[in-house]
Amino acid sequence: MNSAIILAAGKGARMKAELNKQYLVLKDKPIIAHTLTVFENCSLIDEIILVINPEEKEICKKRILERFKYKKITQLVSGGSERQESVHNGLNAVDQRAEIVLIHDGARPLVTSKIIERCVQGAKAYGAVSAGVPIKETIKIMTKDRFVQYTPKREDVWITQTPQAFRIDIIREAHDFAIRHEVLGTDDAMLVEHMGAKVKMVEGDYENLKITTPEDLIAAEAILGYKRRI
Ligand code: CTP
Ligand code: MG
Repeated sequence: MNSAIILAAGKGARMKAELNKQYLVLKDKPIIAHTLTVFENCSLIDEIILVINPEEKEICKKRILERFKYKKITQLVSGGSERQESVHNGLNAVDQRAEIVLIHDGARPLVTSKIIERCVQGAKAYGAVSAGVPIKETIKIMTKDRFVQYTPKREDVWITQTPQAFRIDIIREAHDFAIRHEVLGTDDAMLVEHMGAKVKMVEGDYENLKITTPEDLIAAEAILGYKRRI
């Protein structure tokens, strides 16, 4: 059984909108509804745990759950103040029969079934995977006072995306390890890395962008418009 934890409990502070970015409309529906629709329609996904801000429960019910009637959402879980805590709460709600858990940012509405498929296959083969893409630009590692420390070789640098997918025992162990060692990660792969286990990168997509700032919404609208024309 494959379970998906979809994260929507952030504040969306960098979007500078009045509403959590998850509920902003992209083309024909809220961002989080695009994301949920892809997971709902993917045959490899058996259940969806949706993690939300408890203060937004009514918005979520009215604008998402009542309108789209997703059948695979088994639990609505309250998130925490940090992403990692939100994932942890989601992990506690996963069905006991789950073997593979996918963790996905609700703010990546352009995810596809193909990417989900690669993550599931990858997690079965390697235990821990992240979707990602090779970097296109040259990266500079900086000092705090903004001098260039060094330039990593471009072919060694990838951008991490979600979904990230794990065997359930590995991700549970990684979260417990992080709590014991006070590690706070910006993604879940990082927690597995801290534990000393390997994470494999599977092919994501440049279109699988995270809606973080207003110009990301413009890019996502353009990609969706283009996809519908072809
Ligand atoms: N997230 C979450 N719980 C948190 C923080 C983040 O569930 N405490 C989720 C967000 O809702 C988002 C994903 O994690 O889908 C990636 O986080 P990010 O893009 O940083 O979203 P926000 O934290 O909402 O945005 P910001 O950092 O600008 O406030
Ligand atoms: Mg954030």
